[in-house]
Amino acid sequence: MEYAVAFIEGDGIGPEQASATKVVLAKLEEAQGLSLNLVPVEAGDRALKEHGEVLSKESFDVIRKSDCCLKGPVGQSAFDVIIRLRRDLDLYANIRPAKSLPKVTCIGPPETDLVIVRENTEDLYCGLESADGEKATATRVITRKACRRIAMYAFELARTRRRAVTAIHKSNVLKKTDGLFLLACKEVSESYPDVQYSDMLVDAAAMNLIRNPTAFDVIVTTNMFGDILSDEAAQIVGGLGLVPSGNIGDHFALFEPVHGSAPDIAGRNIANPISLILSAAMMLEWLGREKKDAQASEASRKIHTAVEHSLRSSRVTPDLGGNLSTVEMGNAIAGYIPK
Ligand code: NAI
Ligand code: MG
Repeated sequence: MEYAVAFIEGDGIGPEQASATKVVLAKLEEAQGLSLNLVPVEAGDRALKEHGEVLSKESFDVIRKSDCCLKGPVGQSAFDVIIRLRRDLDLYANIRPAKSLPKVTCIGPPETDLVIVRENTEDLYCGLESADGEKATATRVITRKACRRIAMYAFELARTRRRAVTAIHKSNVLKKTDGLFLLACKEVSESYPDVQYSDMLVDAAAMNLIRNPTAFDVIVTTNMFGDILSDEAAQIVGGLGLVPSGNIGDHFALFEPVHGSAPDIAGRNIANPISLILSAAMMLEWLGREKKDAQASEASRKIHTAVEHSLRSSRVTPDLGGNLSTVEMGNAIAGYIPK
């Protein structure tokens, strides 16, 4: 099968990570008989500087007409790029796995394996803000429809895993908005008697993620809590340089690292490429499922195995205590992909 993949390299460390990822994907194409047509799409701060727009209509159309999108981090224009793509393409489920990896020093135990399912289209991220200089207001939008479909996504996912869903909320304070979210999760849970269901306040969840991360399987939550908790979950398994994410809709999906453009380390070729490489693995897993393509699923597994080999041999970037550059780490991972 041949796939058109809209590829946004992004800003800051994005292009460096993209170079490393392309090496891995080229090796996979060779090894797996897979054909990925990476179509470059400009979006983000650099696109604004060079073309006057963060996400032009042409770029949006290329993305929309592709089979899926792979995206590096963008910088200050993140809201106008990614929040817009999530909303306009209705990519309602933001899937953020946090799983321990071999030989990575981290605060979580080696059995840590959880997924955050973050509602991706509403909450405070609708951009409904106003201010008059003295008072600023943000409107939090929560709908029954969005809550039900994200809850259903979480329960379906749990059925492929350890069959436990925890809904995370602050309904003791946000009685109407999180009250509606919690009610929808409870209602959906009744259709999944084979999945264990519980709920937890977000502040307690932030603590329990550190205290006992293995207690979680699938976490379902609203947009902002999911944004915050997923950076925390990333750190529990070793840092933002390691974790991928998927923005999934009914017929289209976009994959990207959880982190941003990391301006503090950009341009030095020291960023960890794994977050983007595992985002590509998530993309192949999705293509495998969506297009019923066993080759794509196999390619995804090969990336995971190669990343694990690379970590076991301590061939890593400085954030993990090694001395490889971003591209060298991409080469090391590609080297572990069998022919
Ligand atoms: P950040 O996520 O870019 O960086 C946080 C920390 O993690 C930094 O110390 C950075 O060096 C480190 N880090 C991140 N990725 C790494 C990697 N692959 N390897 C090694 N270390 C890594 O957060 P920050 O600095 O708050 O945001 C920078 C910019 O990114 C902002 O302009 C923000 O708008 C944008 N952003 C974009 C996102 C997107 O494109 N989806 C998501 C989040 C932020
Ligand atoms: Mg974030």
